[in-house]
Amino acid sequence: MSFLEVEDLRVQFSTDDGVVKAVDGVSFTVDKRRTLAIVGESGSGKSVTSAAIMGLHNRKTAVVEGSVRLDGQELITATPDTVRALRGQRMAMIFQDPLSSLHPFYSVGDQLVEAAKVHQDLSTKAALAQAKTMLDKVGIPNAERRLSDYPHNLSGGMRQRVMIAMALMNGPELLIADEPTTALDVTVQAQIIALLRDLQEEFGTAIVLITHDLGVVADLADDVVVMYGGRVVESGGVEDIYYRPEMPYTLGLLGSVPRMSAGRQDRLKPIPGSPPSLIRLPEGCVFRPRCPYHTLVPGNRCDTERPELLPVSARNPEHGVRCHIKPSKRRELAAEKLGDLVEGTA
Ligand SMILES: Nc1ncnc2c1ncn2[C@@H]1O[C@H](COP(=O)(O)OP(=O)(O)O)[C@@H](O)[C@H]1O
Ligand code: SF4
Ligand SMILES: [Mg+2]
Repeated sequence: MSFLEVEDLRVQFSTDDGVVKAVDGVSFTVDKRRTLAIVGESGSGKSVTSAAIMGLHNRKTAVVEGSVRLDGQELITATPDTVRALRGQRMAMIFQDPLSSLHPFYSVGDQLVEAAKVHQDLSTKAALAQAKTMLDKVGIPNAERRLSDYPHNLSGGMRQRVMIAMALMNGPELLIADEPTTALDVTVQAQIIALLRDLQEEFGTAIVLITHDLGVVADLADDVVVMYGGRVVESGGVEDIYYRPEMPYTLGLLGSVPRMSAGRQDRLKPIPGSPPSLIRLPEGCVFRPRCPYHTLVPGNRCDTERPELLPVSARNPEHGVRCHIKPSKRRELAAEKLGDLVEGTA
């Protein structure tokens, strides 16, 4: 049993334009001390997936089905009170914008103390001591003094660290980080990723790292799920995704990541076209309208038949791909498209 098990997760919203199938049959698992990255362009269903795990969807407007088990406990059918008690305690979340989870009118210290007291029976003094320790751990200098600061007194990177401290106050076993570095400059991004790695080492946390940028995940992820149109289109170990990718969409994402070792600084060719509407998905492969390779598949199957997520080989069943092209041909295409990049990293 893995610590987090997501199985056939589906989330739909009813809107005036029709039913939005934001997440359609997503499955993955994450163990303690492991990091799973969920990667995909904007609108692919990453945040809706994480909100479903954390029990944050309003069940009056969202239909959430399938299974999410945290340490064996089913969350989809659990009562709102049960999920609320787990949130902040056994599982916590950080976002792209720290100001969305930090209150502007309370000091950093007050907010950290409050976060601790909601879940632990602590005196204010003990909670304050814990807050200071946590600020130290996330690398905030002069933690004692920072306790009386307000969020607007801090730089973007420092605010992100405060939010991480807040998320970790109660020692959660699962941390979901939804684009935690997107708003930060490259240097601070690297610092935050390094911080998450250190904290994971210390606390043994399971991490789900969500990002639209495959370049961010190499240093932290053990496993990667590539999402497109609300579905997983490729998944595997981080090395499978970086060095042995097979799904044309993953090739497109990788083509837009700069790889220093290959000496390529030019960023990059975004994938032409845009993601599909999740209300009226194409009948065949969801990536078909943007895929340069559909003519390689005989019988128009890309237009008529949805590919399943299948293991690329019996030897590595963890590596799954959703594409009608024959595996040997897919590898050829990958070598052609990414060859110089992949070789440059060897
Ligand atoms: N409350 C909602 N009601 C209707 N549609 C929604 C709602 N929340 C998200 N969506 C839609 O679900 C899709 C996936 O969104 P999201 O998970 O936020 O994408 P990502 O995080 O990958 O950028 C988008 O098309 C978005 O418009
Ligand atoms: S199934 Fe067809 S359209 Fe989809 S990624 Fe493969 S080749 Fe492209
Ligand atoms: Mg998002």
